[in-house]
Amino acid sequence: MTQKTLELVDRASDRKVSLPVRPGTIGPSVVDIAPLNRELGVFTYDPGFGATAACESRITYIDGDAGVLLYRGYPVEQLAEKSTFTEVAYLLLHGELPSRKQIDEFTSSIRHHTMINESLLRFFNGFHYDAHPMAMVSAVVASMSAFYHDTMDIYNPRQREIFAHRIIAKIPTIAAAAHKHALGQPYVYPRNDLDYCSNLLHMLYAVPCEPYEVDPVAAQALDLLFILHADHEQNASTSTVRLAGSTGTNPYAAIAAGISALWGPAHGGANEAVLTMLEQIGTVDNIPKFLSQAKDKTSHVRLMGFGHRVYKNFDPRAKIIREMCHKVLSRLGRSDNPLFELALRLEEIALQDEYFIERKLYPNVDFYSGIIYSAIGIPRSMFTVMFAIARTVGWVAHWQEMIADPAMRIGRPRQIYTGPTRRDYREIGSRA
Ligand code: SDX
Repeated sequence: MTQKTLELVDRASDRKVSLPVRPGTIGPSVVDIAPLNRELGVFTYDPGFGATAACESRITYIDGDAGVLLYRGYPVEQLAEKSTFTEVAYLLLHGELPSRKQIDEFTSSIRHHTMINESLLRFFNGFHYDAHPMAMVSAVVASMSAFYHDTMDIYNPRQREIFAHRIIAKIPTIAAAAHKHALGQPYVYPRNDLDYCSNLLHMLYAVPCEPYEVDPVAAQALDLLFILHADHEQNASTSTVRLAGSTGTNPYAAIAAGISALWGPAHGGANEAVLTMLEQIGTVDNIPKFLSQAKDKTSHVRLMGFGHRVYKNFDPRAKIIREMCHKVLSRLGRSDNPLFELALRLEEIALQDEYFIERKLYPNVDFYSGIIYSAIGIPRSMFTVMFAIARTVGWVAHWQEMIADPAMRIGRPRQIYTGPTRRDYREIGSRA
């Protein structure tokens, strides 16, 4: 098949440049713009990377107009219904659904890497009791590189695999320790007899003075939320992990950079901001007043949990989580949850408002997730930490894909310069 090209003519110099066009297996093709700088001496300009493919990937595909999300080709709706987070983690890391033997080995390896070095646990004592859990988790993950020197050769596939299992296994333990530190309660050690989400809930809620039974409804709800949050193509935090990792830094530092990027309210921090927003709105009567603020650019108020850079239709994850809310709340005996009722009305009213319609702003993954986190007892300050636990799988999958690519180069974007032209230094006495 002859390769397509995009022909550009620079009218000023009457020079022509041919840009190769590469098709993906599905979705938009890409234009290789390298010849633009090489032959015409110009850069492309795309702040926010709204139209820029920064890499080639085989992990996740999103169709924002059709509201499609595929993990290694499998629709997220099917994985949400039929799979588990541990199986989805294997799929994202290895590219195929595991055999029984493969998932048993993977599950066993994860379960036997859940403890963290006791010195790492002592790091938490250095934080003030009211430190935000994301600050503690990002700091402790970054510090892991001081403990695991045996997995620092990023070009050794076995060491990459050991790193992947370690960070996926330990991030729940670190998250739970941050929560326990905030409560002033003793840390709860992981249990190898529990599945991934039951173990996390046990570490979050168990106390030494009495046995703690994990609620299977809560564990199942968390597992489903983790599947939906596991990966999402080149979002801000995943792109951060790729850019940091492209320098050859150790993988723990790259993941810690991703955690920091996820924290922002425009990204993973939105789930925490949605609950704060719902509580500020308080009642259905206040919705119109809030929406007028969200539509007023000068207010700096946004309808949190709404809008998405890629989805210009429903975020498929939001639809699944909204349905989950109905089931989880009724199974937990909280179907009259006032915040959920308020969120449903807020969505209904916003989706009839011209401002949101014409800008194609729909609920995203963060709009309803906090309702479920709250219902299973997760404190609001831990919502984004939950997101980080799940997204660690995606970050690791993308980091591995990039490092294993022999064509990997350090990421180094350029700019358009609009500052002063060259000028000479002036002594202070001659300045105005
Ligand atoms: C996640 O990238 C990913 O895949 C992220 C994520 C993942 O899984 O990794 O899906 C997870 O981060 C979901 C998004 C969570 N964030 C929020 O819910 C915060 C609220 N949403 C926004 O701030 C915003 O919608 C973004 C950040 C999500 C997207 O921003 P864009 O693509 O830069 O869109 P934009 O700011 O250019 O908005 C386009 C227009 C603007 O109005 P105009 O200038 O055209 O008049 O829509 C308006 C914006 O003012 N707008 C909103 C709005 N979101 C966009 N107005 C009010 N409320 C909002 N939420």
